[in-house]
Amino acid sequence: MLDLAENKIHDESRQGESLAPFATDPIKYGKRFYIESYGCQMNFSDSEIVASILNGEGFGATRNFEEADLVLINTCSIREKAEQTVRKRLTEFKKLKQNKPGVLVGVLGCMAERLKSKFLEEEQLVDIVVGPDAYRSLPALVEEAGTGQKAVNVLLSRDETYADISPVRLDSNGVTAFVSIMRGCNNMCSFCVVPFTRGRERSRDAVSIATECRALFDKGYREVTLLGQNVDSYYFVDEVNDEIVTFAKLLEKVALISPLLRVRFSTSHPKDITDDVLYTIAKHENICKYIHLPVQSGSTRVLQLMNRTYTKEWYLAKVDRVRELIPDCGISSDVIAGFCTETEEDHMETLDVMQYSKYDMSYMFIYSERPGTLAQRRYEDDIPEEIKKRRLTEIVGLQNRLSSESNRKDIGKTFRVLIEGDSKRSTDDWMGRNTHNKVVVFPKGNSNFKKGDYVMVTVTDSTQATLLGNLDE
Ligand code: SAH
Ligand code: SF4
Ligand code: F3S
Repeated sequence: MLDLAENKIHDESRQGESLAPFATDPIKYGKRFYIESYGCQMNFSDSEIVASILNGEGFGATRNFEEADLVLINTCSIREKAEQTVRKRLTEFKKLKQNKPGVLVGVLGCMAERLKSKFLEEEQLVDIVVGPDAYRSLPALVEEAGTGQKAVNVLLSRDETYADISPVRLDSNGVTAFVSIMRGCNNMCSFCVVPFTRGRERSRDAVSIATECRALFDKGYREVTLLGQNVDSYYFVDEVNDEIVTFAKLLEKVALISPLLRVRFSTSHPKDITDDVLYTIAKHENICKYIHLPVQSGSTRVLQLMNRTYTKEWYLAKVDRVRELIPDCGISSDVIAGFCTETEEDHMETLDVMQYSKYDMSYMFIYSERPGTLAQRRYEDDIPEEIKKRRLTEIVGLQNRLSSESNRKDIGKTFRVLIEGDSKRSTDDWMGRNTHNKVVVFPKGNSNFKKGDYVMVTVTDSTQATLLGNLDE
């Protein structure tokens, strides 16, 4: 309940089935695979690459793991709880294997990379362990495992970006899609396992990114989210066109595909987001006015221990700069409660930064020590669990107030909303988002709009998480 990390773009608590477009053709697809993804959007995006690789090998997707020949689980290591969820799910697959001995079980993603072949010792049912940079070898690993051997490939790469693989969209609404623009992370935030599980940072060919986005637009998609752990350090030397592509340039290239294609991105490291990026966002109507700018802590002392490389004041100046160059920009954050040595004063500084920044939304976590990280090696995880929980409750309470206030201020305003589908509660209502990434729900009425259309909606009411409104006549 306290780990309030639902439905975020890079939300590690996201979990569950990825629904594939069903390959029902038994001649083309003789075998079936099932894939379940946990963790951040990068993992969900990787599962779409895996689906594409497997389709090419005659594996069709199924939504029902009981009818699969190959069961895959794409895993996350960001917090202990994420790993526990995967372990629990594996016990269910164990039962399946007892009833259907020929089925192969593969572990993908960050836990596979972190644990490597230790996974095979700890979880006897697992046949295949494959890290995030080794998905091209999956067909060979499946073949090897088919002969009764255990198959492992956890090599990290300096240049793999899967640029040439066209992802098979899983569980898609046909309107919004995620496009991976880089892989890995060089930042070494002391609490974070990602640099160890995803390897060195590398940027994907800008031409292939633009081509993928254009193809999505041609298929009817109306929004792309450019994904990376640290998108602002995107850097690609395009030798063919003799051009250096920075993140600002990439954003612009994608924005120029069509004014009807919305562009979002995640995640920005505050130290790397440049004025150039901010000017580009301000310049193009279809680049959404929303920045996820994780602060992690408001205390300069703690930020230093976290190796975030900015101070409280520097971060606040960045927030000011965003507001100056993009007035009316939505800002959200990630916050960690109870990092090593955090005092009550440090915690108050975090609340202070939240208040000053007036985040529209935040993802808030209790610090979870991860094996092998700098923090685990250097500092003691010394904040008692009850104190961590109490601080998180205070952080969540403040964010709830800030979100409600931010939404209340939108009452009476009119927004351009991209319709994504029916609202969760009723097929009589549409659900979409505005430029600030806020969910807007409104009655369909007698209009003939459909998914993927832009409509003008005036907000009449709000809750902490949603804006409610009516279509403009
Ligand atoms: N690359 C992104 C974040 C990826 S992880 C960025 O730098 O913003 C997403 C979030 O998980 C982080 O922002 C952080 O708030 C949280 N997180 C990462 N490691 C954690 C840990 N060990 N304990 C608790 N939360 C953690
Ligand atoms: Fe982790 Fe920091 Fe890299 Fe984000 S920037 S993935 S928090 S090391
Ligand atoms: Fe993402 Fe979790 Fe890995 S947050 S990068 S899947 S550790």
